[in-house]
Amino acid sequence: MLNIRGIATAYGNIEALRGVDMDIEEGKVNCLLGPNGAGKTTLMMTVAGILKPHRGSIMFDGQELAGRPPSRVVASGVSLVPENRLVFAEMTVRDNLLAGAYLRLRLKREVEDDCERMFTRFPRLRERERHLAGTLSGGEQQMLAVARALMARPKLLLMDEPSLGLAPLVVEEIFRIIADLNAQGTTIFLVEQNARMALQVAHYVYLLAQGTVSFNGTPEELAEDEVIRRAYLGSA
Ligand SMILES: Nc1ncnc2c1ncn2[C@@H]1O[C@H](COP(=O)(O)OP(=O)(O)OP(=O)(O)O)[C@@H](O)[C@H]1O
Ligand SMILES: [Mg+2]
Repeated sequence: MLNIRGIATAYGNIEALRGVDMDIEEGKVNCLLGPNGAGKTTLMMTVAGILKPHRGSIMFDGQELAGRPPSRVVASGVSLVPENRLVFAEMTVRDNLLAGAYLRLRLKREVEDDCERMFTRFPRLRERERHLAGTLSGGEQQMLAVARALMARPKLLLMDEPSLGLAPLVVEEIFRIIADLNAQGTTIFLVEQNARMALQVAHYVYLLAQGTVSFNGTPEELAEDEVIRRAYLGSA
């Protein structure tokens, strides 16, 4: 579904991605693990069109995404739930959702129906509909960030560390949401630091180290690799 080949992205003359190859399979939860500074967020932002790679190709459903602006990437069916959520704090919950549908706001009825669907999926957001997003708890803001991304009706959802900084029960809820979305047909490309939780939902795993892929395989294959297992899952 998404085929990444030889992607290199730099900040000035610092190359954060140095030739990344990856294949995201349709219908699966694909998980990307890696230490701080490995380039995970850079890869997400490159796929989303926010950063421009200086080399490589990103094919999505037969279309080249590399070099396209973010709005074109969204229009082709790829939405990002950014690191640190980045909800619009000074806007209401409802307006944050509408922002996620900005490419088709003139289809008023359809967008209203989608808002309604989000409130059914995330009842806490309905209760907070008229509140400013900045007043929500961390978990509620994460749900809002997911709902905002879903408002674009993506085929592929990019999620950058959705569990970061959340309490254990809320983390479990976020992972339930990920599993539900996937069961309902959305392909997921998930970046996580919480390897244990991520490996419970992942069908396929990639490790990124210093801007290149150092491992790819199933969670079972990862668990069989002694060195990698120690590094990512502790000694257990
Ligand atoms: N705006 C920026 N300007 C310069 N260098 C940057 C910038 N953003 C990231 N970097 C550098 O690029 C590299 C990759 O960063 P990136 O944020 O993609 O890593 P990450 O894997 O998402 O890390 P984390 O787990 O901390 O979120 C790091 O060396 C980082 O210092
Ligand atoms: Mg990051």
